Amino acid sequence: MADAVRYVCAEDILCGVRTAKDLKALTELEQKHLPVITAPEKVKRNEVFEVTIEVGKYKAHPNEPGHFIEWIELYSGDTFLFRVNLSGSLSVPKVTIPVKLSHAHGPLKAWEKCNLHGLWEATREIEIEE
Ligand SMILES: [Fe+2]
Repeated sequence: MADAVRYVCAEDILCGVRTAKDLKALTELEQKHLPVITAPEKVKRNEVFEVTIEVGKYKAHPNEPGHFIEWIELYSGDTFLFRVNLSGSLSVPKVTIPVKLSHAHGPLKAWEKCNLHGLWEATREIEIEE
C-alpha cells in the first residue's frame, strides 16, 4: 500500500490519521491501534451482512480510565455507516454490526480513536454483487 501512511504532522501523534507503514512488519504501536475489519469479500446488493471491527487484535491495547479506545467508526468509502462510543475500562474495543449496501462506495474503512494515540485507519476491499 503505497499511500498507507497519511501523517499530517509526523511529530504530533494527535495530528492526522495513522495507518500501517508496512502491514508485514507492524510496530508495537500499530499492533495495538490498527482496527482490524472482518467482513465477507463479496456481498449481495441490499443483503444484510456482519462487519466486525476489533482494536488490539494483534496486541492488546490498554483499556483503563487513563488510556482507552474512545470510539470506532465504519465507512463505505467516505460514506458513514456507524459509530460506537466506548467507555474505556467497562467496554471492549470490538464491535459487530449488521450492514447492508446498495452499491460500493469504496472499500470498507474503519477509524478508531485512542485518547492518547490519536486516530487510526484500516481499510478492507469488498465487492457488491447484483
Ligand atoms: Fe493508545
